[in-house]
Amino acid sequence: MSIGVGVIGTGVMGAEHARILRHETPGAHLAGIFDPDPTRAQAVAVGAAVFSDARSLIASDQIDAVLIASPDVTHAALTLACIEAGKPVLCEKPLASSAAGALDVVRAEVALGRRLIQVGYMRRFDPGYREIKRVKDAGEIGGPVLLHNVHRNVRAPEWFDGSMAITNSFVHEIDISRWLLGSEMVSVHVEAGPGGEPLMITMKTDKNEIVSTEVFVNASYGYHVHAELVGRQGTISLAPASLTLLNRDRAGGLSYPDNWVPRFEEAYRRQMADWVSAVKFGGAVGASAWDGYVASAIAEQVAQALAGNGVATLRYEPRPSLYD
Ligand code: NAI
Repeated sequence: MSIGVGVIGTGVMGAEHARILRHETPGAHLAGIFDPDPTRAQAVAVGAAVFSDARSLIASDQIDAVLIASPDVTHAALTLACIEAGKPVLCEKPLASSAAGALDVVRAEVALGRRLIQVGYMRRFDPGYREIKRVKDAGEIGGPVLLHNVHRNVRAPEWFDGSMAITNSFVHEIDISRWLLGSEMVSVHVEAGPGGEPLMITMKTDKNEIVSTEVFVNASYGYHVHAELVGRQGTISLAPASLTLLNRDRAGGLSYPDNWVPRFEEAYRRQMADWVSAVKFGGAVGASAWDGYVASAIAEQVAQALAGNGVATLRYEPRPSLYD
């Protein structure tokens, strides 16, 4: 049986997910679309049903599972509607635009008693990050002591405001750092450069490891994500993601993409394949609703620290046993 997936929100990410579903995901098909912009919806649907609102898409018997790629502020309510309808969800990050909103989703899933939510923290599916985790778990670089992250964008999306460099961008580093190290973050120190960026965020884990992250969402030169894990017997880092080395005008170098879609193409593809497989055969993969809550809770506290004295002891609700 092919899983019918409905996509809510067909901007940059929704269009890419729809493309992957249509062309690169055996065992699933694009069954429906909703976007309040009818031109965008029609352009992505190409024959799939176009729904007039998100709730009718979620309720439809043509839709077995839902992919949410609408703006951050819509995620929690749409995810709750899917839980109510008993439909599996792949929700783009962040799970909600506030920690309280993310916690509502966790509580609804716990009340249901089974896991339906995967959050689109797709770096967990990136081959480079997976290799770092494999090497670290095999003990090949000794015990980890430090993780350096770099997150640079060409320019912030038009819809970025307030603390979104933290609640929308840095959430990726929160999630991937927790996943790579298998640690929880306990404290944070954050500082901003001249004019408010870049941000330099340093967290300590419950195993006393240090996690440093530069977030620079208007770095101009290219989309560049980097990580180096330092262990007591060695280090391992992401290699440059460029496919080619270009020599021209007496200079040579690697190229950077304009945004995340080409950089994480393989991660998006693997994320979709594994999610579809989990929907079909059971099991849970990727970041859970709990992981989504923790990322949003940390991000919110980092944003508050930035507006205050720059430091915070991080606090979370206790983890429900559904996520053990
Ligand atoms: P976008 O602005 O390109 O697209 C958003 C789409 O949602 C638009 O087509 C808009 O018409 C539609 N929309 C607006 N209100 C809606 C509503 N109430 N219900 C349904 N659709 C609605 O934004 P983009 O870049 O595609 O981001 C979408 C989501 O994906 C965001 O939550 C963002 O954080 C996340 N994202 C994830 C990335 C990743 O690497 N995992 C990368 C970039 C974005």
